[in-house]
Amino acid sequence: MSANGFRLVLLGPPGAGKGTQAALLVQHFAVPHVSTGEILRSEVSRGSDLGGQARKYMDKGELVPDQIMLGIIRERLAQVDCASGVLLDGFPRSLPQAAGLEAIFGAERVPMRAVSLEVPSSEIVRRLSGRRTCRACGAMYHVTFGPPTKEGICDRCGGELYQRDDDREDIVQARLEVYRKETEPLMAFYRERSVLRSVDGTGPSKDVFRRVVAELEAVPA
Ligand code: AP5
Repeated sequence: MSANGFRLVLLGPPGAGKGTQAALLVQHFAVPHVSTGEILRSEVSRGSDLGGQARKYMDKGELVPDQIMLGIIRERLAQVDCASGVLLDGFPRSLPQAAGLEAIFGAERVPMRAVSLEVPSSEIVRRLSGRRTCRACGAMYHVTFGPPTKEGICDRCGGELYQRDDDREDIVQARLEVYRKETEPLMAFYRERSVLRSVDGTGPSKDVFRRVVAELEAVPA
């Protein structure tokens, strides 16, 4: 598939591996990676007004209100690097966001794809409780499934690795509940539009990546 006109929405519960797969897919397809979670975390660490508002929801595992998210995504997609393709990770996450995204893409005849990573809940809790992220470059590790060479230090840039506040087990359970209620209905939304592909998200990340690419390349552009 060519990068030209490549618009992909990565779906899946918290910890399904969206960020991990996005990092591999954006290299393979040469499209920008837009992660709403990363945008919000960067606003929180900058101490902006938006970050202050978003934090109240993120700390509880709830969704940031749709109007705020649609404003963020509208602004980001208007930037020049997204003109011919984008990989969306963490957006949309509710039916109003999915409808809003369709309106933003509007009448442009750009094909859209949605890939859902399927991972059981028991595996999700194990993945999130062991996740470590680099404060400097955002690279991701897992204490068991993909540890850094030196504990607590990023292999890529030497930055400090930290555990996200919302990866505490009680918050993970809240995020999974919100996912089931608000985000799962998007499967039917994209299935109705015949753009959804479900991929087994278990096993080594490289195997998941190969499965995602095979699904995407099997779909005529
Ligand atoms: P966000 O940052 O989007 O979090 P999420 O969707 O909950 O997803 P995660 O980042 O937790 O997981 P992931 O699927 O990317 O998995 P990862 O690759 O890291 O959102 C955070 C918060 O921001 C939300 O709760 C909400 O409050 C707010 N927000 C964001 N977008 C919003 C929106 N659109 N609307 C409203 N609110 C919004 O992998 C997880 C771990 O597993 C890692 O340690 C990784 O190394 C490991 N791993 C990955 N793949 C594998 C594998 N195949 N085998 C073993 N381990 C693996």
